[in-house]
Amino acid sequence: MSYARECIGRIAGYVPGEQPQDRKYVKLNTNENPYPPSPAVGAALREFDWTRLRLYPEPSALMVRKAVGDVYGFEPDWVICGNGSDDLLTIAMRTFVDQGAVLAYSEPSYSLYPVLADLQGAGHRAVALDDSFQLPENAAELAGDAPLFIVANPNAPTGNLLDKATLRKIASEFKGVLWIDEAYVDFADESCLELCKEFKNVVVSRTLSKSFSLAGLRLGYAVASPELIFEMNKVKDSYNIDMLTQVLGTAALRDVAYMEENAKRIRATREATISSLKRLGCEIEPSASNFIFARPPKAAEDLFHRLKARGYLVRYFKLPRVSDYLRITVGTSEDMESFVGVFGELLDE
Ligand SMILES: Cc1ncc(COP(=O)(O)O)c(C=O)c1O
Repeated sequence: MSYARECIGRIAGYVPGEQPQDRKYVKLNTNENPYPPSPAVGAALREFDWTRLRLYPEPSALMVRKAVGDVYGFEPDWVICGNGSDDLLTIAMRTFVDQGAVLAYSEPSYSLYPVLADLQGAGHRAVALDDSFQLPENAAELAGDAPLFIVANPNAPTGNLLDKATLRKIASEFKGVLWIDEAYVDFADESCLELCKEFKNVVVSRTLSKSFSLAGLRLGYAVASPELIFEMNKVKDSYNIDMLTQVLGTAALRDVAYMEENAKRIRATREATISSLKRLGCEIEPSASNFIFARPPKAAEDLFHRLKARGYLVRYFKLPRVSDYLRITVGTSEDMESFVGVFGELLDE
């Protein structure tokens, strides 16, 4: 017998990518940034007065919201912060989706979305991406009466950018909240941030985990009209962003140029790696992210295990439509060159 709610007892829960401790791997499995965060973060950490930790943090993470507002052109009341963007997704579920209602989400996409529906005791409405992993024109109709429709753009694990005209069409037709998860947008050519201003039902969420090299800190933010932010603020934990994270996250955001330089390097490495993998016979989806979605000429699952044995961790999803692929995070150019070398050897064996 389980003491948990029925909807919790019957699910496995979300399984994050491995953070193994057994040996040193070239870690290309959880889309972390291979470069350190801005030196401004290190300076802020050194200057932080640890005795302040006896106090609670400012509950709304105002300094972070101001930094986001200054960098991206919004007033702070358009911004809410989360303990990573995963926290914001949970806040969204609890704000917009009743138990027994349905969550709409694109598929294949971030595998957390259906789990969040399960946790909420909500139903699933998966809107299938087409063969190019794009949203269909009638996606709003397919999402139907769902109160919340989450899409990742760039998509994960496929890496491609969704068509903005289609997203705009969905925003105008869909009756619920359209949530655009832009976790990887700094590695892409365009963002949908302006849709928050155009449409009252659009939320764009972002994270400092990837492009700002701060996965260990846990900081994300979402931008939307103040009416939506107001409702989400009622749901979030009072102090969901700790004091140190507020200080360090603000320092990172205020040095956005450093992040952009890193993102540029990663994009260049991504394109070089894609060319090499294509030469090895992989089919590759166009990537607007810091990872590569590759369909190797041999069984992906077997290659995943053999790569791990050789010290290279990538991600494999045993799920419909994506089980023939490997998702490979873009590391440093040295890591990627050695990865391609080993990958080539495994394909030859
Ligand atoms: C599409 C997508 N959204 C959100 C997240 C979560 O990021 P965070 O570290 O901000 O919780 C991830 C992490 O892998 C992701 O792939």
